[in-house]
Amino acid sequence: MLDRTKPNWWKSAVIYQVYPKSFQDTNGDGVGDLPGVIQRLDYLKELGVDGIWLSPIYASPQVDNGYDISDYQAIYPVFGTMENFEELVKEAKARGISIILDLVLNHTSDQHRWFWEAKKSRENPYHDYYVWRDGTPDCPPNDMMSGFGGSAWEYVPEVGQYYFHQFAPEQPDLNWDNPKVRRELYDMILFWMDKGVEGFRLDVIDQIAKEPDAKITANGPKLHDYLRELSRETFQKGYYVTVGEAWGADLERARLYSAPDGSELSMVFQFEHMGLDQQPGKEKWDLAPLSLTKLKACMERWQKGLHGCGWNSLFLDNHDLPRIVSRWGNDGEYRAESAKMLATMIHGMQGTPYIYQGEELGMTNIKLPIEEHEDLETINMYHERVAEGYDPEDVMRSIDARSRDNARTPMQWSDGEYAGFSAVKPWMPVNPNYLTVNAEAQQKDPQSVFHYYRRLIALRKEYPIFVEGDFCLLEAESEQLMVYTRNTDDASLLVVCNFTGEPQNFARPADFQTAECLLCNYETPSADTLRPYEAQIFYCQKKA
Ligand code: GLC
Ligand code: CA
Repeated sequence: MLDRTKPNWWKSAVIYQVYPKSFQDTNGDGVGDLPGVIQRLDYLKELGVDGIWLSPIYASPQVDNGYDISDYQAIYPVFGTMENFEELVKEAKARGISIILDLVLNHTSDQHRWFWEAKKSRENPYHDYYVWRDGTPDCPPNDMMSGFGGSAWEYVPEVGQYYFHQFAPEQPDLNWDNPKVRRELYDMILFWMDKGVEGFRLDVIDQIAKEPDAKITANGPKLHDYLRELSRETFQKGYYVTVGEAWGADLERARLYSAPDGSELSMVFQFEHMGLDQQPGKEKWDLAPLSLTKLKACMERWQKGLHGCGWNSLFLDNHDLPRIVSRWGNDGEYRAESAKMLATMIHGMQGTPYIYQGEELGMTNIKLPIEEHEDLETINMYHERVAEGYDPEDVMRSIDARSRDNARTPMQWSDGEYAGFSAVKPWMPVNPNYLTVNAEAQQKDPQSVFHYYRRLIALRKEYPIFVEGDFCLLEAESEQLMVYTRNTDDASLLVVCNFTGEPQNFARPADFQTAECLLCNYETPSADTLRPYEAQIFYCQKKA
């Protein structure tokens, strides 16, 4: 068990993301809940993870599935009660698992009490909790657009002003320039720390220091000052794991965010690798093939760039991304092999790995007609593009490949009705492949994707080189193979991944000819011709 009283304990941790709405329903309303997370703790313990990042569980009208919070200190009643939450913290802790909450500090719901007050009048003490600008009903302050489509400004006739929202109109942005807002948020965080929470994921944290007059959203000039204050007032009171979601982070900023002195956060989610298969300068819906050489160059830059002076998060999936096996693997014939290969690629690197629910089973994307989609980003984009004259079939192709709903279908626990997720029809359709892709079957099968993840996690605990080793890319020019080594003074690891469904020639470097094979996604590692999606990890001690 990791010792949470030691600084940097999270460098050896593996974290599992739960999207509560789709994880496990226990009371037959078709929606996942906190008792459902408690029920599945033994499963997560078997997998071997050290922390659960819970997507938002707070009171919310659920316009954006909980990323629109109406009360930061109450539980969304559909998910359960504060007692359920306290029990979850306790039961998780008893299994060596930390609870990591999702902090949405950039905006609230428009149903938050602060916002109700704020829009009453310009003199109301809460008015300045949000970002307002003068304008006339037909002329917003500027042409900034929201992340979910449409103008970023919404007019409120009562006050004769516009408020700023980087996401849906139901998600008004908080005004971080107001010290009272910051204090409220810090006190809220302290409240959860008191309940035994051991970490936080910070939603769109790079967007808090916005300056709409200068059209600045991410990376505002005061961003790192705010982060240092936030950290000082809260996280630095103990050894919390903190990870910021920062779509706009480059290496230089990531070094600030994850500075070893602990002045800001433990690490950030940066998304450079996740943008490589879209057309440059366009949106995620504008698909392009992945260039493996570009992916490798990107990974290498981040691995080397933060070694010894920051810390990486390692991930391929989350609730905003399509399923990686459908994206960069093969979700047909080689589903299991390619899911394991992608896991090997990411878990072999330096950083803290994150697993998104179902990734450990090789869960895949789903194909849904537009009427069955739930995600507002997907639905808004569909209508916008069709109105602009795009071919609806092309738009659906993008949605099948990239919609956030791909990740949000119910967790596939068994081959029983509704995949064991719920006794009734769930809020989102279950992926029909649950009959073959499910946890129960995989727990029984030692060759499953589940057990492969379990072994990868166990290796990280057993061999310090996974945590400490530096990174060296081999075969940089290959469009088929990703090969790298990790090195410490006394040992080396070799990670080999075939990214294709074809056999590939590969000669293992001399140093590893007689090395021990720690893991392979086929029964035995092949010597010179890698099989489709074959992945291998070799280990050797250096001679004194
Ligand atoms: C983050 C969340 C996403 C949400 C958005 C607005 O990107 O991960 O799910 O829609 O912030 O809160
Ligand atoms: Ca329920």
